[in-house]
Amino acid sequence: MNVEQLRAATPGCAERIHLNNAGAALVSAGVLQTQVEHLELEARIGGYEAASEAADRVAAAYTSVAGVIGARAHQIAMVDNATTAWNLAFLSIELEPGDKILTSEAEYAANYVAYLNAQRRFGAEIGVVPSDAAGQLDVTALDDLIDDRTKLISITHIPTNGGLINPAEEVGAVAQAHGVTYLLDACQSVGQLELDVDALGCDFLSATGRKYLRGPRGTGFLYASDKALQNVQPAVLDHHGGPWTEDVNKYVLRPDARRFENWEFGYAGLLGLGTAADEALALGLDAIEERVVELGRSLRSKLAAADFETYDIGDRQCGIVTTLVPNVDSFLAKQRLTKLGINASVSMPESTRIDALRRALPDLLRFSVHYYNTDDELDAAVSGLTEIRTTA
Ligand SMILES: Cc1ncc(COP(=O)(O)O)c(C=O)c1O
Repeated sequence: MNVEQLRAATPGCAERIHLNNAGAALVSAGVLQTQVEHLELEARIGGYEAASEAADRVAAAYTSVAGVIGARAHQIAMVDNATTAWNLAFLSIELEPGDKILTSEAEYAANYVAYLNAQRRFGAEIGVVPSDAAGQLDVTALDDLIDDRTKLISITHIPTNGGLINPAEEVGAVAQAHGVTYLLDACQSVGQLELDVDALGCDFLSATGRKYLRGPRGTGFLYASDKALQNVQPAVLDHHGGPWTEDVNKYVLRPDARRFENWEFGYAGLLGLGTAADEALALGLDAIEERVVELGRSLRSKLAAADFETYDIGDRQCGIVTTLVPNVDSFLAKQRLTKLGINASVSMPESTRIDALRRALPDLLRFSVHYYNTDDELDAAVSGLTEIRTTA
């Protein structure tokens, strides 16, 4: 990987030390150009006409995005963010009173609130699978918790609040062995890790464009397996997902995952996401994973050497690193870092309540590295924190 070249092709690298890639990564010049060109085309010839001219590239974007997770184009629905993607799958699973949803301790707030809503609306039950000693979902405990009322296994791959990588493939093997539907929130792992939906064994996978995939904001996608496409009726359906027939009492369900989409799109964003996926595929997801994981490891050891505690759990860890400056509010620390030209974010307990309660976590300062970050940037972040600690 030619990091210098990749940085030169990323306008934001000249402006900031960007360690908030799990917020939104910096887009490349290519992704920016794709979007600007399409917006200009829309302005020149009209929005519908521009979409028609770009039809081949729109179709290619589905193939590219599918390629990032080892899927095929017909298994992808393009939507506006990961929460939409996730809900489109979740709401399509018909739950009855007493049906059980099994989830992870690292579950993202939006997902957990949706489980609570399903509890209120349908009388579904929520089971939280305990974590093992290393902090990741305990696959044996999951296996033990499954019974004939278990309707869904729904877990977060990489949580919002740290470097943990949950054992998503092992969970998939358990789900398949029991014939239970498996929904994977891969919002933070897509574009960061090498993923293959067949190995993951999931029925649905939801993701966002703006994080590790380096796509535009306001983009996301849902993967639905062929089995899911055979069995699942979308809870939300329009005339794009289910074209209305001449017989006004009928519609035909689209055979592909685009049944989960609405008719309207931000085409510039969709095309930009396609370019981002092409760039990730050209670099190789394996090479991206290797570098991001290595930079994450390097940052953790630099922080430890400077006497900062880190809070990342699990046997396998990714490029998200959480820490804090003792006696300094993490929001204040983040503001001070911004003044030094360093982008970070704050992970609050309310975004992952179960894990935060279990570990009594305060607001944490979150650094998330991408392949275009350098060791010098990590050193600058650690010395920034040291300065904040010294002047606290
Ligand atoms: C684990 C996880 N899932 C889902 C989401 C939601 O993604 P989006 O904001 O694209 O809807 C996030 C966002 O931070 C997340 O960290």
